[in-house]
Amino acid sequence: MNQEKPSLNPHPLSEYVAWAGTRNREPILNVLKEKLPKESGVILEIASGSGMHINYFAPHFKHLLFQPSDYDTEVFDNIKNISEELANDNVYDPLYIDLTKPKTWVNLDKKNAYSAIFCINIFHVAPIYIADGMMECTAELLNENGFLLIYGPFKVDGAFNSESNKWFNKILHSTGAPGWGLKDIAYLKKVAEPYNLKLQETIDMPSNNFFLIFARK
Ligand SMILES: C[S@@+](CC[C@H](N)C(=O)[O-])C[C@H]1O[C@@H](n2cnc3c(N)ncnc32)[C@H](O)[C@@H]1O
Repeated sequence: MNQEKPSLNPHPLSEYVAWAGTRNREPILNVLKEKLPKESGVILEIASGSGMHINYFAPHFKHLLFQPSDYDTEVFDNIKNISEELANDNVYDPLYIDLTKPKTWVNLDKKNAYSAIFCINIFHVAPIYIADGMMECTAELLNENGFLLIYGPFKVDGAFNSESNKWFNKILHSTGAPGWGLKDIAYLKKVAEPYNLKLQETIDMPSNNFFLIFARK
């Protein structure tokens, strides 16, 4: 594979997103191996994009079932094609979930169905109000002992954790796309409060990313 960094393009089927996913999937898998349930359960991914992550992780957890989702239904065929190519029999067909539209998950009839919910690299390329959708969706769909894992670059108490993330934030803003830019972990914590969710753990990940783990208080 070409290792050169493609130019920024958040489209889920872009070369850039594939490049980022190939770099981050192994470190993310290592965290999931530690955190995901050792017994049976169903795991929901929000904003699955191409489906490269969920399909890469699923064969490592044969005791679990994986549910991909996205608000962009055009990626669904890609997710299904990868599942088929890899013969992943523990990956469901994708669901339509839009974090800005509560009805898309309220109507799912899957209340408290999931042992864990995870999402990768959505917050910096989406408006800040998706944080509210993320927490509301989690509160609705997660089971009692479940947890939410959010992976990506974030600010910490108003500051960037590296010069490269400061630069990345500038590039995101320069695109003019509404709401793009690094969000603050403190803000996510605040939004989680009314949903009875609390940040339980912050894990430093390669390339100045974080894994944030929220669970019920
Ligand atoms: C940068 S891509 C990341 C895709 C994938 N998680 C990855 O890391 O390769 C951002 C994803 O967020 C999804 N997304 C953006 N806004 C969303 C929303 N309001 N609800 C659900 N998904 C959303 C996009 O469709 C896209 O798949």
